[in-house]
Amino acid sequence: MLPDFVIPKASLAARNTLGLPARAEFFASIETREQLAMLAHHPDLFRLRYFILGEGSNLVLTGDFPGLVLKMELKGRELAGEDGDYYYVAAAAGENWHEFTQWTLENGYPGLENLSLIPGTVGAAPVQNIGAYGVEAGDFLYELEAFDCVSGEIRRFSAADCRFAYRTSIFKQEGWHLSGRFAILRVVFRLPKKWQPSTGYGDIEARLEREGISIPAPRQIAETVMAIRREKLPDPVTLPNAGSFFQNPVVAANLAAALTGAYPDLPAYPQANGNVKLSAGWLIEKAGWKGRNLGSVGMHEAQALVLVNRGGARFADVQNLARAVREAVFARFGIHLETEPVFL
Ligand code: FAD
Ligand code: EPU
Repeated sequence: MLPDFVIPKASLAARNTLGLPARAEFFASIETREQLAMLAHHPDLFRLRYFILGEGSNLVLTGDFPGLVLKMELKGRELAGEDGDYYYVAAAAGENWHEFTQWTLENGYPGLENLSLIPGTVGAAPVQNIGAYGVEAGDFLYELEAFDCVSGEIRRFSAADCRFAYRTSIFKQEGWHLSGRFAILRVVFRLPKKWQPSTGYGDIEARLEREGISIPAPRQIAETVMAIRREKLPDPVTLPNAGSFFQNPVVAANLAAALTGAYPDLPAYPQANGNVKLSAGWLIEKAGWKGRNLGSVGMHEAQALVLVNRGGARFADVQNLARAVREAVFARFGIHLETEPVFL
């Protein structure tokens, strides 16, 4: 017999911000660690494929999922400790990320302000090492606890164990997340007491200056980041989307030099390893796809990197548009775009 918190044949349509239709063979809302242990030992369920779900804001559903979706709803946040140099703030996986960042600011633990208003849960933040406005979650992550769905044990990961890089971590690698092996339970961030503002990205500084703010407080940086995001990024509640649909391509320095020679306004950001990150949004815009639709999907008019569902889209529509955009960018610039969200 199934535990009473497991639902068979559950719709996922309202559980992914891109709004694609799909069903899970089984679905469980996880509010306690004990529920996970129960599932891992259940004779009918432990063999199934698992998928760990947060708020579905980085997800493309390709069809029905023939396994068990675990929706992480564990709650709680706290100051877990402090020493002379740092605050250690912790939150359970099911906490909403934005609410957590605002709670840290309200309680006097700054550091995460540039990551305000990113959708999703705390538990998903390490998975693709969420980043925005010059800061990544991995810059501050101290450690996390995860439930190993294979062994049934709880494992700790340090920041180094997570192998963070641009939009990835060990949890986003094939064979790790697809097998749904580690359900992240709780994440601890280490925030320096000597707070340093990070205002170098885009026009944060220029906006603060326009408001007459020369030495910004953390809250003012958060407000500025939120204002920029609201101008560019569509709210999934009114226009379903999964954020950036493609990653910014990181290319060798000589290729970047050739491209910026030919297109001087192509944004290019040198990386620590000598490679250069280019703007996929710029490439898509110049390839003619900004604000353009194909069937029921389109690339957003204010940010060409965001694929939006104009209503009633299915996975095939997403696939067709993604293919058309990739082909156009490759034909014009010789660059392959990689997708950014997780495909299930
Ligand atoms: P989901 O979409 O539910 O899951 C994403 C992945 O994480 C899946 O592989 C899932 O299995 C895994 N996962 C989720 N929870 C857990 C857990 N507890 N344990 C283990 N694995 C788990 N991202 C950025 O980095 N920067 C941005 O600026 C940004 N802006 C966005 C703007 C919009 C409008 C939208 C819609 C998305 C944006 N994103 C951005 C993407 C998204 O917000 C993040 O990837 C977020 O972390 C996803 O959280 P989620 O809870 O919705 O995860
Ligand atoms: N640009 C264009 N046209 C566009 C979009 C962008 O020309 O349609 C150019 C502009 O020159 C702009 C530059 O690209 O100045 C950078 O744009 P933006 O600041 O919007 O950032 P991005 O590189 O397009 C990345 C992340 C976003 C994150 C922002 C801010 C990726 C794939 N995307 O976008 O993350 O919010 O930076 O840090 O790295 C997400 O991951 O879902 C996401 C939204």
